[in-house]
Parts: sequence; C-alpha cells; structure tokens
Amino acid sequence: MDIKNKVVFITGGATGIGLATTQRLVAGGARVAVYTRAIPQTPNVAALKENPSILFFEGDIREENAVNAAAQKTKETLGSLDVLINNAAIAQRKPFIETTPEDWDAVVDVNIKGTLGVTRAILPFMRDQKSGLIINIASGAGLYGIENLSLYSLTKAAIINFSQSLADEVRGDNIAVFSIAPGGADTEMFRACFPDKPALQTPQQIADVIFKSITGDITPDDRLVVDVFRHAH
Ligand SMILES: NC(=O)c1ccc[n+]([C@@H]2O[C@H](COP(=O)([O-])OP(=O)(O)OC[C@H]3O[C@@H](n4cnc5c(N)ncnc54)[C@H](OP(=O)(O)O)[C@@H]3O)[C@@H](O)[C@H]2O)c1
Repeated sequence: MDIKNKVVFITGGATGIGLATTQRLVAGGARVAVYTRAIPQTPNVAALKENPSILFFEGDIREENAVNAAAQKTKETLGSLDVLINNAAIAQRKPFIETTPEDWDAVVDVNIKGTLGVTRAILPFMRDQKSGLIINIASGAGLYGIENLSLYSLTKAAIINFSQSLADEVRGDNIAVFSIAPGGADTEMFRACFPDKPALQTPQQIADVIFKSITGDITPDDRLVVDVFRHAH
C-alpha cells in the first residue's frame, strides 16, 4: 500500500511503540487518528498536535460509544479509514496462582474485548470502501507463553488467532488482516514488567517493521504473523 495520504486509526498511539509508529506514519505522509486513554503532555505529542493531519481522541478502547464516535469523526474529518492498528494493551506480571478473577477481567477486557470493539467500529467503513488493512499488535508472548505473564500471553495468542479468522472473513471485501509479534522493546510496559532486563529492541525498530508491513516491504508468514525478531535487525 502506498501510505501517502492514507488514513490510519491507531489505538494507544501516543506512547511507546504506538508513538513511534504514529511518528513513522506521519513522516511517510499518512494522516493519523490516535485514540488513547490519556493523551500524554509530552514534547513529542505536543509536536504532533501541531500537525493538522493528525487527530487525537482521548478515550478508553472498552467504551463502545466513544470508539464509534471517534471512528465517525475520523471518517468525516480525514475522509476515509484505510488502516487500523490495534496497539493499545496492558500487561501485568505476576505468577498465575496469584492472579484474581478481577485481574483476568482487566487484561481480557482491554487486550481482547477492547480490540474486538475497535475492530467492529472500523470494519464497516472499510467494507463500504471495499479496501482496508487491519494490523493487530500481538507479541512474541502470543506465540510462546511467557512465565508470570500468563494473562497477557493468552490475550496475545487470542489476538493472533482472531486475526486469522477475521482475515478469511473479510478477504472478499479487499480487507487484509494480520498480526505483528514484537519482542521486548524499551517502553513503559516493558520496563514495568522487566525492571532488571535490557530491552531487545527500540520502539522505533518495531515501528519500522509495522510501517514496512503496511507498505508491503515485509509480508506476514503463512500464519498471518510478522515476527519482529526476524525483521528488526
Ligand atoms: N514493549 C514490549 O516489549 C512489547 C512486546 C510485545 C508486544 N508489545 C505490544 O505493543 C503494544 C504497545 O505497547 P508498549 O510497549 O508501547 O506499551 P505502552 O507504552 O504502555 O503502550 C500501551 C498504550 O495503550 C494505551 N492503553 C492501554 N489501555 C488502554 C485502554 N483501555 N484504552 C485506550 N488506550 C489504552 C496506553 O495508554 P495509557 O498509558 O494512557 O494507559 C498506552 O498508550 C501493546 O499491544 C503491547 O502488548 C509490547
């Protein structure tokens, strides 16, 4: 896909991997709608706010009405909805035996149900225009579960699986779906989970893989997964 002037809706696009992806997309000529829980007051975000081809929406991906309103406003303001990047997620590091049903709900509600809700909000616009690309940010943890990250890992496995089912359902509408599985990248989420471990990748390296997956310079494998480890070096 030629990204110039295309409209990308990205969740959690104001910090970490999402911010680096927003910046990469804007540099490539895309117009971007960032939907995130709390818009951070950082110089990077302030700089992006100067750009008229970027919209910011503050909201939770679990709030159906707010997500639908943001999708509608994006279409009205920027003219189309060409790419969805489901990037927002949370992680919680503790042994499974110590997790509670409240923990299960929290991680499943954001990482799985939030992703489903945003996808359902955007998909009708792509169907109408008979084109689209949906990229779900999964994780290496979704390919092989990580100890003390069982809840997070299982949600990421679900995201990979969901991407495969959806890809088959919407191919006829000229909509592609795949997931991207990053490794440990230097972000708030990673540092909170692994305070003593060095990160393996920078958010910018992952954003570059996401960008190249959109432009077609990297294609997903047979499982419809782009494994960042194979491409970010
Ligand atoms: N960093 C890694 O090592 C790594 C590895 C593999 C996969 N990933 C995946 O990469 C993606 C980005 O993570 P990151 O590492 O860049 O961490 P991050 O900086 O914590 O980014 C997560 C973003 O999602 C937003 N968010 C969380 N819950 C939300 C909700 N309910 N509604 C709206 N926005 C919400 C957060 O906003 P707030 O800060 O306002 O809550 C934050 O901006 C995630 O899907 C993560 O699972 C990360």
